[in-house]
Amino acid sequence: MIDKYGRHVSYLRVSVTDRCDFRCTYCMAENMTFLPKSQVLTLEELDQLCSAFIARGVRKLRLTGGEPLVRRGIMDLIRGLSRHLKSGALDELTLTTNGSQLATYADDLARAGVKRLNISLDTLDHQKFAEITRRGRLEQVLTGLQAAKEAGIGIKINAVALRGQNEDEISRMLAWCGQEGFDLCLIETMPLGDIDGDRTDHYLPLTVVRERLEKEWTLVPSNHVTPGPARYVSVAETGGRLGFITPMTHNFCEGCNRVRITCTGTLYMCLGQEDHIDLREILRENDPALLDAALDRAMLLKPKGHDFVIERKGEKPAVSRHMSMTGG
Ligand code: GTP
Ligand code: 5AD
Ligand code: SF4
Repeated sequence: MIDKYGRHVSYLRVSVTDRCDFRCTYCMAENMTFLPKSQVLTLEELDQLCSAFIARGVRKLRLTGGEPLVRRGIMDLIRGLSRHLKSGALDELTLTTNGSQLATYADDLARAGVKRLNISLDTLDHQKFAEITRRGRLEQVLTGLQAAKEAGIGIKINAVALRGQNEDEISRMLAWCGQEGFDLCLIETMPLGDIDGDRTDHYLPLTVVRERLEKEWTLVPSNHVTPGPARYVSVAETGGRLGFITPMTHNFCEGCNRVRITCTGTLYMCLGQEDHIDLREILRENDPALLDAALDRAMLLKPKGHDFVIERKGEKPAVSRHMSMTGG
């Protein structure tokens, strides 16, 4: 699949549920209304859609949420999809998770061929973790992380940089990731969906974070270059990798190779833009030619870049759906 800017789409991100056992303050409101189960794709539909994209050249599949591991039957889906790894049609099957269920699932994931996980962790302070996630327990995530590490899974930690919340801890997290052998990726908050409050209160440009880190650490250019949003450096002191995802201060869309499907089967060609195609209804027609035609149409719709702009205080977020719908 090639879009009208000549970009090859080879990476599909699928949100398997909009639900989450946490309520991170920058992501969700305390009282979220989640979708009725009837609107969410069944496991069979998820498999069918993923397989159709793989048949059209997708080589990397990332399951997200919400929290993907709270979806009932998730391991059946993953084990089923792993047939595409075995056949060589897929290079990578992976997940972005908050880690809360990893103690239970790490071994099964490794057995199903999951080699890397991106784990969201914004702080190593128990109290702050409870404040940011509202429902999470740091201990549980740390236990899950160790289980994943012991299962031989490579780990990238995602931390959203939050002014006044974790900004004083980022250096400590970098040191910890170095010790544990994890990559660290810092993220700027993006204006997606209503939360209780104003994201601008905690928005922290990563240019500021980077300047601060450079006073303590030697950040050197990295040869780890991906088509994704993260720009990586190596940390000379630890040998680890540090990524910056800076949608608000830079644009990284020129090499974008990804599209995403919501848990209701809507295809978005970009995280930060509203154009979409409803694939669920097309899927239910049970005609592969219709689905193929929809994917061709999607390639014409993929925008050059996202529409995010730095929010001003009191403004509605640029994109009304939450990150948990599209899975980041
Ligand atoms: P890789 O698949 O390893 O490249 O991981 P990733 O960093 O792209 O994915 P992950 O799920 O770990 O997401 C980390 C952050 O990047 C999340 O906040 C995502 O929302 C954000 N992100 C991922 N893809 C895009 C994108 O295409 N545009 C924007 N603006 N943000 C993205
Ligand atoms: N802006 C930036 N990152 C967000 N995440 C969730 N909501 C937002 C937002 N509004 C992050 C999570 C996780 C990743 C999938 O997206 O912390 O690391
Ligand atoms: Fe759940 Fe991730 Fe959103 Fe936190 S950021 S509430 S862990 S989906």
